[in-house]
Amino acid sequence: TWTTGNVIEEQVAAIREQVGAKRAICGLSGGVDSAVAAALVQKAIGSQLTCVYVDHGLMRKGETEQVEKDFVAATGVSLKVVDAQERFLNALSGVSDPEEKRKIIGREFIRVFEQAQVEIIAEAGAHGDEPVQFLVQGTLYPDVVESGGGTGTANIKSHHNVGGLPEDLEFELIEPLRKLFKDEVRMVGQELGLPEEIVHRQPFPGPGLGIRIVGEVTRERLDLLREADAIAREELTAAGLDREIWQCPVVLLADVRSVGVQGDGRTYGHPIVLRPVSSEDAMTADWTRMPYDVLSKISTRITNEVADVNRVVLDVTSKPPGTIEWE
Ligand code: XMP
Repeated sequence: TWTTGNVIEEQVAAIREQVGAKRAICGLSGGVDSAVAAALVQKAIGSQLTCVYVDHGLMRKGETEQVEKDFVAATGVSLKVVDAQERFLNALSGVSDPEEKRKIIGREFIRVFEQAQVEIIAEAGAHGDEPVQFLVQGTLYPDVVESGGGTGTANIKSHHNVGGLPEDLEFELIEPLRKLFKDEVRMVGQELGLPEEIVHRQPFPGPGLGIRIVGEVTRERLDLLREADAIAREELTAAGLDREIWQCPVVLLADVRSVGVQGDGRTYGHPIVLRPVSSEDAMTADWTRMPYDVLSKISTRITNEVADVNRVVLDVTSKPPGTIEWE
């Protein structure tokens, strides 16, 4: 019979057998898949695993701390955090085109991650440890099916998540979630004692807030969007809507300004877009008919609390024709 306990036991045994005394690396993205995969491998081989988290500065409020503090506290995993915020901001400077942003973020991510891998391999060598020979990936069953079911190589859509195995670093893959669907992964994560915020995290794009700023990405704009997004998330959670809403991108129209009035002054600020959608698989989606009073509360709070935002608008487009994200 299928129980999370059985899945964990089976995978732990299989991973121990596969890895032996050697060492493994796992990239953490902040998402549920890589977190659960890492936690399983940690349970199996303990300190033979090193995790890497690239802080690209495009995460939402509190998410980096969830990985750095809560995930580490829950699993005891050894984590290498690379602060690459400056590097990503520099690389994105002056760029507004969505696909160009994606390319830059993906490219920089791989470079930083690869560099971290090289350092971990070198450190293990300097300590006289067993070689680092394995890479952990949070591949799920639907990814396996979509990519034709092969094993042993990285099957990741180019724009997705922690993908893009550097070709000159050869690793064997550990993919402990290959037989699982998303809801099963969440159950396993829960059983492993991972933080609630990670286990029930809604889908979030790899390029993060970088593709939720329509226009150039700057530190000020990221800070502003992070505040607005945190308010929306807080109110959606308080209203009990987290399960009903598949995800709710919060988008900053950085190149648009409109006239407003606040106190006795005229303002000329930016609009924030709320994009709550209901979906089964993100392939199609409908805009969520959410309660007016919740929308009203979010709007009031964002315009009061976030400087330079004087308007909140609701996206009422289904997918198709609109995509879920604005970029
Ligand atoms: P769209 O906007 O295409 O999004 O309707 C469908 C789903 O994919 C997510 N998404 C991404 N995920 N890297 C990712 O890892 C990306 O570049 C990316 N773009 C969109 C989006 O959040 C939604 O869940």
